[in-house]
Amino acid sequence: MTVRAVKGMNDILPAEVGRWHHLEQHFRSMAEKHGYAEVRTPVVEPTGLFVRSIGEATDIVEKEMYSFERHGDALTLRPEGTAGAVRAYVEHHVHTQEPVTRWYYMGPMFRGERPARGRYRQFYQLGCEIYGDAGPAADAEMIDMLVQFFRSIGIADLEVLVNSLGGAQTRPRYREALREHLLPRRDLLSDDSKRRLDTNPLRILDSKDERDIAALDGAPSITEVLDGDDLAHWSQLQQDLDLLGTPYRKEPKLVRGLDYYTRTLFEIRTSAGEVGAQNAIGGGGRYDGLVQELGGPSVPAIGFALGVERILLAMPEPDVEPPFLCAIAPIGARAAGQALILARELRAGGLRVDVDTRGAAGASVKAMLRRANAIHARVCLVLGDSELDAGQVQIKDLAARTQTVVPRADVVQHVLSLQAQGGPSGGHA
Ligand code: HAM
Repeated sequence: MTVRAVKGMNDILPAEVGRWHHLEQHFRSMAEKHGYAEVRTPVVEPTGLFVRSIGEATDIVEKEMYSFERHGDALTLRPEGTAGAVRAYVEHHVHTQEPVTRWYYMGPMFRGERPARGRYRQFYQLGCEIYGDAGPAADAEMIDMLVQFFRSIGIADLEVLVNSLGGAQTRPRYREALREHLLPRRDLLSDDSKRRLDTNPLRILDSKDERDIAALDGAPSITEVLDGDDLAHWSQLQQDLDLLGTPYRKEPKLVRGLDYYTRTLFEIRTSAGEVGAQNAIGGGGRYDGLVQELGGPSVPAIGFALGVERILLAMPEPDVEPPFLCAIAPIGARAAGQALILARELRAGGLRVDVDTRGAAGASVKAMLRRANAIHARVCLVLGDSELDAGQVQIKDLAARTQTVVPRADVVQHVLSLQAQGGPSGGHA
């Protein structure tokens, strides 16, 4: 029987992992430059955490969660990172230790969506959350940070959509206005939306169904009904973004698929590279009520998450030099033992070393050199009985195609000096 990976869940093989590292390192460095510290929370959380935070009448909670029971507890593989971060923030009373907290995280998320290019059932997010700052300057800095980040990894073709959902005063009024618009059109709606007209009318704005889109034609937009502090926040955000020169477009239809949002919402889309239809490479917003909703103090919050796989589809190939690699080809069992000792010394000197341990069982020099080239080693040290007896090592420069014999005691120094000279790595026959 051949066992295959679960549909929508991918292996990331070593040949691809370099691009993942590149992206993760860039993200980490950007987040830390902006004062965020990494948090790691469990992949499994109590199901109730997601139901309460993401919202009962959302696609994620209704259709997509991987939930199961174990030891009498209802558990779920996290479909996103915000709920777990808030749980940890509340559980560890972080607000008593600092007035403003900035956290970032990276890791796998799980949603049982229909798999397609850029849409998977296990996918990876890079995310940031800020707790304790209610002002629009935090929103503007966060959106600007994202634009700068995408440009720094070579994705310049960006569409930044922003909207406001209003807060505690605006939302109920808007929900009513929307319901009033849709009630006479109820029969035109999809089944999901008919149901949500009562439970969660805002979700209808998110629907991709043509019938719902048609019924929404002429509906009032949220930003039209904003007032008081909600309106002031929305106006100030735009002024801040203008001041920073951050590109953005106001999109009154943007609601996003999670119920915890209040006020600012944003989403970043691109058509760069191979991204295709799943063009939202990141999104986020404010969720000023969630910390309290989950049993914590009244602390405002804002955050975002980026989709790693989608960014990798959009991102150009990073221009990174392959690292200098030193191969060792020992001829016979005695040389193989000595090769391991030599490799230890070279690694202590800071080098990357690959010993072809097949030499112990009689692999030919030719076969070992072929492999050294295939793994893009820059040099190959050849070590047989005659070299051992003479206290020497043969050093083949695979890029320059030259070779020299060096006293055993000088090998580390010699290889280090080749590394310092730089130049292309090997890989030629
Ligand atoms: P989200 O919009 O659901 O927001 O997901 C953020 C990003 O994750 C999306 O823009 C997309 O790039 C990626 N993504 C989502 N689902 C999939 C999938 N099935 N396959 C591949 N990539 C996917 C959140 O998750 C919120 N927690 C963001 C946030 C943080 N809001 C406040 N703080």
